[in-house]
Amino acid sequence: MNTMPDFLHIDAQQRSVSLDARNPAFYGNPNATYALLHAHCPTFYWEEQKQWFFTGYDHVNALLRDRRFGRQILHIATREELGLPEPLEHTQHFDAAERHSLLEIEPPEHTRLRTLVNRAFVYRHVEKMKPEIETLAHGLIDRFEKDGQTELLSSFADIIPVTMIARMIGIPEEMGPQLLKWSHAYVGMYMFKRSREDELAADRAAKEFADYVRSVIAERRAEPKDDLLSHMIHTEHKGQFLTDDELISTTIVLLNAGHEATVHQIGNSVRVILESGLNPKSLFGDEKTTERTVEETLRIGAPVHIFQRWALEPVEIDGVTFERGDKVSLILAAANLDPLKYSDPLTFKPDRAEAPNLSFGAGIHFCIGAPLARLELNIVLPLLFQRLPHLKLARQPKVKDVYHFHGLERLDLTW
Ligand code: HEM
Repeated sequence: MNTMPDFLHIDAQQRSVSLDARNPAFYGNPNATYALLHAHCPTFYWEEQKQWFFTGYDHVNALLRDRRFGRQILHIATREELGLPEPLEHTQHFDAAERHSLLEIEPPEHTRLRTLVNRAFVYRHVEKMKPEIETLAHGLIDRFEKDGQTELLSSFADIIPVTMIARMIGIPEEMGPQLLKWSHAYVGMYMFKRSREDELAADRAAKEFADYVRSVIAERRAEPKDDLLSHMIHTEHKGQFLTDDELISTTIVLLNAGHEATVHQIGNSVRVILESGLNPKSLFGDEKTTERTVEETLRIGAPVHIFQRWALEPVEIDGVTFERGDKVSLILAAANLDPLKYSDPLTFKPDRAEAPNLSFGAGIHFCIGAPLARLELNIVLPLLFQRLPHLKLARQPKVKDVYHFHGLERLDLTW
């Protein structure tokens, strides 16, 4: 059971691991590898990534909240001090778009920006979108129901999150396909082992994306509407407003984060449910059971596996010493499988009453879009299984080669 696959080498004594993240046998089923890491070496130095990684639930949970670590370090140290390379010329537009991204900043800038965005965000009351999500999902199923088969990502999962986040921000819906293209190219920068071509494509997408958002901001300044962008433009905190650059970064991060992860999660959730062999009727009996089912698919099929932090000061965690400027990686998807927290962790058990999953993070960077993502999943998953009660996998789904994201290339279904 615990035999080591040939793509993984664990030296438990040295807490060192060699693992090729581009090996399909790994990224096709990372949960199996995470189980081995929990068994042999939950805190380890990943040789290929040249960094320490944490998989234990308590460590990941604590590190996400630990203010001695941050998503950024250049607010307290210079590149020279840390020996960091100068920014690359060919990724300047990408870097500019990231400059004010909530995900890339720390207090006090983060506190100010997050408060302003949150104000505009809650103003819209995410729950108000429930009927719109239902109508959209029904409309998409209407299109393919009679066919007896579909590829669910392109016909359903890809469309719902981008449409909802675009509507919420106030970007015209016909921009949906273009937003998807920009976003796919943009997130190429977060992949392990990206190529120069990936970087150039991400930079081009960032420039086009930012130019487009700038033009919509100008329109909303002249003529505000009842959308998130107009609210962000006009929301103030202690007499301050968001600048255009902050608005652009925020809009881009909301659009990207607002759909990529949710698309993957819809696909992963449907797959997990179908492979479990459990009866969808009982999984989606009422709102409470639906919520438990959704949370369990988020636990076992999380769409984004790794988030990093910089050590902002010297600190020791689990016997590992970090200097200011060192990076650490937290494998959220592995923390969700910690045998110290979950019984039979690799099994889909929606009725488990154990630790909450960490798929949306924790602490000051906790996912701002979690209420929207949860709402979408709690509506579209039961609706899909009610409309198509005989849903089956047409073939074994293939996982995308984009680790550390975890999503499917295609999800072919029949009924
Ligand atoms: C299943 C879907 C989603 C998952 C699993 C997910 C996961 C996460 C995680 C783990 C973080 C924390 C990152 C860290 O601590 O370093 C995060 C942050 C964030 N997410 Fe999500 N997310 C999802 C959907 C969304 C949606 C729908 C939106 C937008 C509407 C969104 C917007 C954001 C933003 C803006 C942040 C940064 C917050 C901050 O740094 O203060 N996410 N997300």
